[in-house]
Formats: sequence, C-alpha cells, structure tokens
Amino acid sequence: MTGRPVWVLNGPNLGRLGAREPEVYGHASLDDLRAACAGWGRDLGLAAEVRQTDSEAELISWLHQAADQRVAVVLNPAAFTHYSYALRDAVAQAPLVVEVHLSNPAAREAFRALSVISPVAKGVIAGFGFDSYRLALAAIASA
Ligand code: DQA
Repeated sequence: MTGRPVWVLNGPNLGRLGAREPEVYGHASLDDLRAACAGWGRDLGLAAEVRQTDSEAELISWLHQAADQRVAVVLNPAAFTHYSYALRDAVAQAPLVVEVHLSNPAAREAFRALSVISPVAKGVIAGFGFDSYRLALAAIASA
C-alpha cells in the first residue's frame, strides 16, 4: 500500500456485515469493505487500512495512535456513536476524523438521532452504504 495513510476504523457488530440485518446494512461483508476502501484509497493516493473491533478500549487506543502519529481517520463508531463519551474524548484528540454511517441514523429509531461523536468530528457522511466510506476518503484526500 502506498500513499498517505488513512485508518478506516469500525466499531461493534460491523464485523458481521453481510450477515447482520442485511435489509439495513446490505449483503456485502467487512472483507468486501476492506477491498473497496483499498481500491478507492489507491485511486485517491491514500493507503486505506480497514480495522474493526467490538471493544471500546481498542477503538480508543487506535484513536490515540492516530492522534500521536497524525493519521487521518474514517470512523464508523456503530452503536458507540450514541453514548460513548470516552470515544468522543478520543476523537477530539485526533487531527482529522470523518464520521460515517452506512444507514442514516437520523431516519431510524429515536435513540440513533443523537451522535455524541459528531460535534468533535470534522464532518459526517451517513446513509449511502459503502459509498459513505468512499465519500469520506475523497473528503480526506482533498482536506
Ligand atoms: C451504524 C448506525 C448505528 O446506529 C448502529 O448502531 C450501527 C451501524 C451505521 O453504519 O449505519 O452499528 O453506525
């Protein structure tokens, strides 16, 4: 992988993409997302590395590393979006974080309407499936 490094960090349950509620999240897997992001990154001059964890602590530690190494991040915080102040405080330390969602959380259950992450993200892209990630990578490439 060549180009400016970008970490594409995914939170809980996103390892089950393809199997998980396909009517909401689609039929493609995390490995499909990995391949798609690598290709889009290549086209944009970015080395996009996709990671996923179900662990809040691990996600926070990746954000600390992004802060220390000055790496841009595409972040799908998954359910942590809606309540994790610890994740929010980690995002606030990182130089450039674009929050993404596959679905449009604002159009779903009421508890998803609040993102505690958005106020400290550079921007938010939601509702476009995998294309949310492509658009976020394009935004980072031109930031
Ligand atoms: C999600 C939306 C969240 O509300 C949900 O908890 C997820 C996925 C999305 O990508 O649409 O796990 O972040």
